[in-house]
Amino acid sequence: MAYIEWSKEYSVGIQEIDEQHKKLFQLANELYNAIVGNHNEAGLKKTFQGLVDYVKEHFSHEEGMMAKVNYPEIEPHQAKHRELITKIVNYFKEYQAKVASGADSKHLSKEVLVFLRNWVLQHIMETDMKYRGHFHARGIN
Ligand SMILES: [Fe+2]
Ligand SMILES: [Fe+2]
Repeated sequence: MAYIEWSKEYSVGIQEIDEQHKKLFQLANELYNAIVGNHNEAGLKKTFQGLVDYVKEHFSHEEGMMAKVNYPEIEPHQAKHRELITKIVNYFKEYQAKVASGADSKHLSKEVLVFLRNWVLQHIMETDMKYRGHFHARGIN
């Protein structure tokens, strides 16, 4: 079983965004595999970095789409994105510091996985889902 599996219930009804969310799930699964697999630090670092970069890319894309349609809730939504970026970047820094000092990074990596899954699912279901009607009313789906 995958660590995080995309299903229809996560669809926000906008194809472009769903595709990006699917990619996010895929990268999160890769991180999971890198952590619970052989835990090769170099591979894990690259996967972690890739996920951080993609999260930023997806958020800026989503924010661009919201701005285009004058979505009224854009500010609190952006604040939530910023919050996640700060947390995930901090985790990444903490992880790198642990590896650099030779400390065991396993515990921290597992904490990241729990945090990431909860956050991603909650954000899609509670925050992303809210813009659905606004986009649909403008013919974007
Ligand atoms: Fe979002
Ligand atoms: Fe999103």
